[in-house]
Amino acid sequence: MAIKTLIIGACGQIGTELTLALREKHGNENVIASDIREGSESLMSSGPFETLDATNYKGIEDIVMHYEIDEVYLMAAMLSATAEKFPMRGWNLNMDSLFNVLNLAKDKKISKLFWPSSIAVFGPSTPKFDTPQTTVMEPTTVYGISKQTGERWCEYYHNKYGVDVRSIRYPGLISYKTLPGGGTTDYAVEIYHEALKEGKYTSFLSEDTALPMMFMDDAIRATISLMETEADNLSIRSSYNLGGISFTPKELAASIQKEIPEFTIDYAPDFRQPIADSWPSSIDDSQAQKDWNWKHEYDINKMTKTMLDGLRD
Ligand SMILES: NC(=O)c1ccc[n+]([C@@H]2O[C@H](COP(=O)([O-])OP(=O)(O)OC[C@H]3O[C@@H](n4cnc5c(N)ncnc54)[C@H](O)[C@@H]3O)[C@@H](O)[C@H]2O)c1
Repeated sequence: MAIKTLIIGACGQIGTELTLALREKHGNENVIASDIREGSESLMSSGPFETLDATNYKGIEDIVMHYEIDEVYLMAAMLSATAEKFPMRGWNLNMDSLFNVLNLAKDKKISKLFWPSSIAVFGPSTPKFDTPQTTVMEPTTVYGISKQTGERWCEYYHNKYGVDVRSIRYPGLISYKTLPGGGTTDYAVEIYHEALKEGKYTSFLSEDTALPMMFMDDAIRATISLMETEADNLSIRSSYNLGGISFTPKELAASIQKEIPEFTIDYAPDFRQPIADSWPSSIDDSQAQKDWNWKHEYDINKMTKTMLDGLRD
């Protein structure tokens, strides 16, 4: 029997590519996309779509029952930069949606659940380089507080109710198929669009702000790989550190200049700078390597080439 999957928040930056990858793997009709808005043409035309609000427990339950869903990926959330503008809305969306799917799993209506955490769980008191899996976590953003709290609840539901929940602390994700949704690392996507359109870019982070990043193909591969790992191999039920690459706006600009020599960059840090300053510069993901053989494939230059080729197409 094919695995039946529901993606909630499927029309966003990650959900779009995740849905397409899972449809490729499990068959279009077995992967149900849902969101409060419609998505890209390729997402909408390649398989079933339902309009669904992640804060509506009954709505999710109805769709889970109707399609006999086994696994849920909850991708709906309010991201870091937007949640600083609307703190209570961010908190309510991020927590209510998580409790809805955790409770569905607790009641055995689904068998497995993926929920993404973020490097935003860390804060200024966290070791900044090679940040360990287990360390000081004092996040200073609404988004980070919601992700850290979410991690605690995931682990609690696993320990207390046997819920098979799996999670990754994604770094900043870079992709060309969908635009990012209001995060602090969005500059690393915008820069490619502007490099091709205008030949120049003004970064909202300062030139030396190093952050952990990852190309989307690696993040999707990590997500599916974690979900396919035998449950017994998983030692972390809060959320796995995931490394990838780490670079500054200046280094990213230099990698673009290898492909587009006339490209220029300047810097005008805004309200997102203090958020970035509170996050790690690089991540130690040795636990993910050990438990589910994680290894990233894209370095900064391979990513730049793929981004520019993808956007030109
Ligand atoms: N993109 C990144 O760099 C990154 C990094 C770390 C963690 N994450 C996490 O990964 C997940 C997905 O992120 P993303 O970048 O794809 O976000 P996004 O903002 O691009 O997409 C989120 C999607 O959720 C939908 N949505 C919003 N409110 C909803 C609701 N009430 N019900 C149903 N859908 C709703 C939006 O319409 C959107 O399509 C989030 O949990 C985010 O915190 C993302």
